[in-house]
Amino acid sequence: LVFPIESYETFLDCLLHQVPNSNLSQLVYTQNDPSFTTLLDTSIQNLRFISPNITKPLLILKPTNDQEVQASIICCKNHSLPLRVRSGGHDYEGLSYRSISSTQFVMMDLSSLRDIHIDQYQRIAWVQSGTTLGELYYAISQQSGTLAFPGGTCPTVCVGGLFSGGGFGIMTRKFGLSADNIIDAILIDANGRVLNRETMGEDLFWAIRGGGGGSFGIVISWKIRLVQIPRIVSVFTLTKTLIEGAISLVDKWQRVAPNFSEDVLLKFAIEPDMNGGEPVAVFKGFYLGRCYGLLTYMHIHFPELGLKKDDCEEMSWIQSVVYFAGYGHAKPETVLLDRTSEPKEYNKGTSDFITDLIPYKIWEEIFDRFQYEGAGVIYFETKGGRMNTISESALPFPHRKGILYSIQCLVFWPENAEVSEEKYLGWLNEMRSFLTPYVSKNPRRAYVNFRDLDLGMNEEGNTNYENARDWGEKYFMGNFKRLALVKGKVDPENFFWHEQSIPPLLSIP
Ligand code: FDA
Repeated sequence: LVFPIESYETFLDCLLHQVPNSNLSQLVYTQNDPSFTTLLDTSIQNLRFISPNITKPLLILKPTNDQEVQASIICCKNHSLPLRVRSGGHDYEGLSYRSISSTQFVMMDLSSLRDIHIDQYQRIAWVQSGTTLGELYYAISQQSGTLAFPGGTCPTVCVGGLFSGGGFGIMTRKFGLSADNIIDAILIDANGRVLNRETMGEDLFWAIRGGGGGSFGIVISWKIRLVQIPRIVSVFTLTKTLIEGAISLVDKWQRVAPNFSEDVLLKFAIEPDMNGGEPVAVFKGFYLGRCYGLLTYMHIHFPELGLKKDDCEEMSWIQSVVYFAGYGHAKPETVLLDRTSEPKEYNKGTSDFITDLIPYKIWEEIFDRFQYEGAGVIYFETKGGRMNTISESALPFPHRKGILYSIQCLVFWPENAEVSEEKYLGWLNEMRSFLTPYVSKNPRRAYVNFRDLDLGMNEEGNTNYENARDWGEKYFMGNFKRLALVKGKVDPENFFWHEQSIPPLLSIP
């Protein structure tokens, strides 16, 4: 153990003083504890960060109630122990459980905090941060076939991180971000104060709904507004090759899909052909209604796609969640309760937002680049609809009116891949530079939930607003300054720090 044994003992005394009835052996795990590595690794979702050279937490704290979270914050602060919090561990840069520098830190794992209380008559729910999206969606579907919640598509992502950064998915065009549908929250701040919407005030409540996780305190639970949906929704997947006109189709897609009715989402991905052939465009559609309505709509607005009756499937919303999670019909809905259902890989991602149409010739080149070694996947997801009607400053997530679609470039590779890590990362970096003239500019926007340290990071011991503007304004545009001012008020000593946490700004510059 790196920190002196006396300090460890006084740390335990502090916890016992704060929560006398707690079982410390279930709350505190040192590196010498036999379950430490399993506990740490279970929610490391990106194998790039499992290597022995990565700075691991000195201690893991696994609270089972609010009092233990509060006690942990107070005692870490008293002992000058930096604290990081992890809900689902899906952070793209692993910042919830690893540190880039060699500074020791404590990690709080919230995976035991996963209560969900749904009031279907008032159409609201309280959900704790360690709940996965799959668990939340499943619980809603057990109460009602016509209630849902707009969030992301990956069922093992936790609400703790996703809500903190915004949260978009297949129903965003209709209902906005997850964060747009949060109406209260319980947060414990750096001084150990337990705050709700009323006691934290509107500035802090604004900041925690999209300002990115790990900056303002630890959110224990969220009160969300459920949305009403039809009992039956429709979905389809259509794969188009180059010979089938994939390039003309994606070119047409960008002209029409961002303006579709809010009830329709049509997204696509460019993927390399697994057998070494030409890349394909995989279109996925979602409609809040029956196939008849979707077919009619597509025949009028995008006939070139050639959607046929047999391509379209009707199902309940919860079945569509399983479908978009990539399981098709292969798994029952209970797969959403499996917190470890996704295979782990090495990965790295980047994000962009598009405000102007990409020229046809450029699409040709994008497809060409999928034949290079190390090629990954690019996801294109339309925004528009409801997102166009919400002001840029309503929440920290500013990418609203005028955004046609978002792009996510991802490379991933398995253990012992034939192609080297450098090739994958090289492909990603080249794609990123190639796309520069065609994506948003000044600044080049990015999504904080697709965290990317290549955009820049805080310098440990010298974190300041001016230096952080470079990456912060890419995520938050004009909202970055307000975020820094809120941080300056609620955590001026910068206790909740990580490489891309919001820096405190103590007064208006
Ligand atoms: P993790 O526990 O790593 O936390 C992420 C960040 O939030 C860290 O900084 C952490 O400290 C902080 N944090 C966590 N819990 C907190 C709490 N209770 N209070 C305060 N801070 C907290 N996004 C999206 O919008 N739509 C999508 O469809 C997807 N899909 C998707 C698929 C896959 C495979 C991945 C890996 C990621 C996504 N994402 C996504 C991105 C996802 O929203 C983002 O990574 C979230 O931050 C992950 O939240 P976790 O709680 O799982 O991560």
